[in-house]
Amino acid sequence: MELRHLKYFVTVAEEQSFTKAAEKLFIAQPPLSRQIQNLENEFGVLLFERGSRPLQLTEAGEFFYQHAVKLLANAEEIKSMTKRVGMVERTVRIGFVGSLLYGLLSRIVYLYRQRYPQLKIELIEMTTTHQIPALKEGRIDVGFGRLRVSDPAIRRVLLRKERLMLAVHASHFLAQQKQGVYLADLVDEVMFLYPAQPKPNFSSQIINLFSEYSLEPKKFREVREIQLALGLVAAGEGVCIVPESARTLQLTHLHYIPILDENAVSPIFMATRCMDESEDIKALFDCIYQVYDLEAINYDRSAF
Ligand code: BEZ
Repeated sequence: MELRHLKYFVTVAEEQSFTKAAEKLFIAQPPLSRQIQNLENEFGVLLFERGSRPLQLTEAGEFFYQHAVKLLANAEEIKSMTKRVGMVERTVRIGFVGSLLYGLLSRIVYLYRQRYPQLKIELIEMTTTHQIPALKEGRIDVGFGRLRVSDPAIRRVLLRKERLMLAVHASHFLAQQKQGVYLADLVDEVMFLYPAQPKPNFSSQIINLFSEYSLEPKKFREVREIQLALGLVAAGEGVCIVPESARTLQLTHLHYIPILDENAVSPIFMATRCMDESEDIKALFDCIYQVYDLEAINYDRSAF
């Protein structure tokens, strides 16, 4: 059995059709069916239920599918790790969600560049969800995001939980509550959520946060990105919940107020390939924690 046979089998299982799988794999259907038949003969078991439409896996097929997917992911990972280990000029590619740029990301990366001038560092904006395949395919080496996305090949470390704040116009009655507001105070407000796509994202986190407190705000408006949301707040059209670090985005008449509920936080995660034990990644962790020390941010370093 070769890796390409695993790929054939996984594609047929996912497409639930030999015809569609053959199209996707750019091969003719008869040799594809023969390869699957050869696998079944080799194992002495049926992998697909005969005559099922759409094609269904047998119990043995389901078991084989779960493991074949992991094996293929491992093979991809080994390929990208080998390329990385062999690089003469080392490059660290960092995927990040846009909102982190307003916080400590730029300081951390600047420190990393200063400490390791021989490293080539590339920053690539992408959602947390897109960071997982990008890590596995070697397009990035580190991902910084706000969502708890899980994958067996990815190590995810919670760096810290950032407090959330409310952005309001100076003339809004809530702007007087400088000591802070509760989520319950916001249910009747027009609230801008961002980004609009792809889901799940920061806007889903905010909706879930209200649900956690059994609150149902009714006037959510989704906009493409944080700058639009804050611009609309500054125009007096509504309010918006942002991570504390977004306070650096200043517009005339825009005020930021603490949200006092205990769970009004947004986590920041760092994701790497499980196999990646490289010194460059450890060095990046050191830079993160050095910036946290300078900023007197509490963290739990046991994770790394
Ligand atoms: C932070 O704000 O804690 C942070 C942002 C980006 C990368 C790492 C940490």
